[in-house]
Amino acid sequence: MSAQREPVAVIGTGYVGLVTAAGFAELGSEVWCIDIDSEKIARLNRGEIPIYEPGLAECVERHRERMHFSTELSEALEHARLLFVAVGTPPTYSGDADLSAVNSVVGAMPRSDQHALVMKSTVPVGTGAAIRRIFGEQGKAGFAYVSCPEFLKEGSALADFLKPDRVVIGDAGDWAGDAVVELYAPLGAPLVRTDIASAEMIKLAANAFLATKISFINEIANVCEVTGADVVEVAQGIGLDHRIGSHFLKPGIGYGGSCFPKDVAALKQLAGNSGYHFQLLTAVIEVNELQKRRVIGKLQKHLGSLVGKTVALLGLAFKPNTDDMREASSLVLAARLQADGAKVRAYDPVAETEARKLMVGVEFADSATDALAGADACVVVTEWPEFAELDWSAVAERMAGKLIVDGRNCLDPRAVRAAGLSYEGVGRANGDILRHVSGEES
Ligand SMILES: NC(=O)c1ccc[n+]([C@@H]2O[C@H](COP(=O)([O-])OP(=O)(O)OC[C@H]3O[C@@H](n4cnc5c(N)ncnc54)[C@H](O)[C@@H]3O)[C@@H](O)[C@H]2O)c1
Repeated sequence: MSAQREPVAVIGTGYVGLVTAAGFAELGSEVWCIDIDSEKIARLNRGEIPIYEPGLAECVERHRERMHFSTELSEALEHARLLFVAVGTPPTYSGDADLSAVNSVVGAMPRSDQHALVMKSTVPVGTGAAIRRIFGEQGKAGFAYVSCPEFLKEGSALADFLKPDRVVIGDAGDWAGDAVVELYAPLGAPLVRTDIASAEMIKLAANAFLATKISFINEIANVCEVTGADVVEVAQGIGLDHRIGSHFLKPGIGYGGSCFPKDVAALKQLAGNSGYHFQLLTAVIEVNELQKRRVIGKLQKHLGSLVGKTVALLGLAFKPNTDDMREASSLVLAARLQADGAKVRAYDPVAETEARKLMVGVEFADSATDALAGADACVVVTEWPEFAELDWSAVAERMAGKLIVDGRNCLDPRAVRAAGLSYEGVGRANGDILRHVSGEES
């Protein structure tokens, strides 16, 4: 890559910021990474990566020379004209996005007609217009603004940055939009260049649609359980229809993570604030909340009262390959189990440190087999491949009880049952249908 690439700054070095910075460094840019968390910056300067994300540590290490970490915004302003904003926008109690971190970045910008804020943080529609208005009122109308929402997935974030399905750029038609287009050009991704409000809505609508797909298949799964159909077969059968598509048709114990819950709530709230009742999203959210709790019913069906029972949770983060515990279904599940008098033992290959901060009274194990020793039941919460590869005969010997609840339909029900264990999946009436559309056995 050419050393002449546009230098950039990234404000906020969390999951999105650090991955974005590493991605631009990979493409050849000098990157100034700014964060208010001085401890995080000190760690990054020592070469430590504060989050778990496949390939990220190696990428940052590879580009140490062109990645600069600091708490000083002035360094970013001195070296880069494009300032990517990747600060958090967590939910407030009302479900609106909390824009305090975004506002604090906006407030820190000087008068300039040579810089642009490029918004990667997920913000409500209208935020860009409001920021441009504020800039105008403060005599900073020359400060350009671009919306460039991020679609990366935790667990494959760097790969997603480098090979995005599309790049969305919303701008006012000035130099800054052109510069961001140029920056992303080497990726060769489809480009959607649009106005700022539409770019903001594309991000919210994309996450709301994906969450809707998950809640839809979860409801189909629940109906499968009471009617005798197998949702794995059903999902395959409908997913092959190109109008539907096979992605996000995996039923489970509800979506979580730092984005879906808050972005769906934020869009619902945004609509409500504008006088529109978004009925569909109201249902999507409710289905998701109930889905997390259905596991309790499955445990009770087999164990009766949960008082004094030990339940092993395998996987704690909201999905594999991340240590991000924000809005993970395991948090609701552990709290519900404890409220019903159960003892919770937990294991996650990478999320234990984060989980310990959030899960009070939970015992942590060093391995899946240690978590299962003496347990009355096991719940697979996150579909780490290592759980599918467990030796179920050895598990059956270690456990006190027999119940395996496969919250992600990631286990082979026949292997589990062959070991003398009871298998409960999600939406799999008997869980061991062998047929596939090709006629092959799975
Ligand atoms: N995590 C994802 O998978 C993902 C995907 C797409 C979009 N997003 C969106 O990207 C944004 C960032 O998400 P994240 O998961 O990376 O958040 P994060 O919490 O991991 O990181 C945010 C970082 O911003 C820093 N920060 C806060 N205020 C700051 C300030 N005033 N100046 C400089 N740094 C500041 C924090 O210290 C933290 O390091 C959110 O709006 C989120 O919705 C996230």
